[in-house]
Amino acid sequence: MHMIANWKMNMTRGEIASYLDVLSGDDRWQAWKERGIRLFIAPPYPYLDFLGSQIRSRNLPFGVLAQNMCAFEKGAYTGEVSGAMLRDLGVEGVLLGHSERRQYFGETDAAVAEKTTRALSMGLMPVVCFGETWEEREAGRCTEVWNRQIEPVRERIVKARGEGTGTPVNWAYEPVWAIGTGRTAVLENIREVSSHLRKNFGDEVASGLLYGGSVNDESVSGLWEKGTVHGFLVGTAFLEPKCVLRVFDRLFGCP
Ligand code: 13P
Repeated sequence: MHMIANWKMNMTRGEIASYLDVLSGDDRWQAWKERGIRLFIAPPYPYLDFLGSQIRSRNLPFGVLAQNMCAFEKGAYTGEVSGAMLRDLGVEGVLLGHSERRQYFGETDAAVAEKTTRALSMGLMPVVCFGETWEEREAGRCTEVWNRQIEPVRERIVKARGEGTGTPVNWAYEPVWAIGTGRTAVLENIREVSSHLRKNFGDEVASGLLYGGSVNDESVSGLWEKGTVHGFLVGTAFLEPKCVLRVFDRLFGCP
């Protein structure tokens, strides 16, 4: 299970230290990690290094993810950050194609595919986000949108690594209408996505399915089903460390 806190454009150094202080108050992190349950935090770029060192100094078994990366290897790309730089900072993986990047920064399906193969070649675990808008759902176009977003990424991955095995890719279903709105999908929606992935892209893709969109300590239990949901991507609720503890407690309880 990958439990991911996407901090988006939030948090400062002082807030990061206090956040980790609260999480350090629970002594079950190592036991959870041994059960394959792990917390990953995706801070803004400037804090990747600071967050990593704060985690290490507290002996916490958390992973650090980036919220984006450049598809190019290196060179004259002002304002961009490469996969090699992320690796150099001890980052384990990267969120790619988040709907906010698609919506506000014009990220295309092709760009997400390029970034995913670059991440894989750098040994970074990609978390590829996909999901429909409310209008697309109302128009009955969900599967068309999922396929449009997933297919180019799958094709590039399969081409890049032959038969399609290797570093696992996480596929985060984040319906745009559920992000930051307080309106969550229901388990039935996620089951529908899971079986679509299994039928159209195979078990490997279906077994990397995460869900994101207004997940919190109230909604999380109803959205989880073993074998269907392999983790959660949480924005607003995981800005509050006590909520992280409540979610872990509710889902995983005592080790
Ligand atoms: P919220 O949890 O705030 O809806 O955000 C979800 C998200 O975008 C995680 O990547």
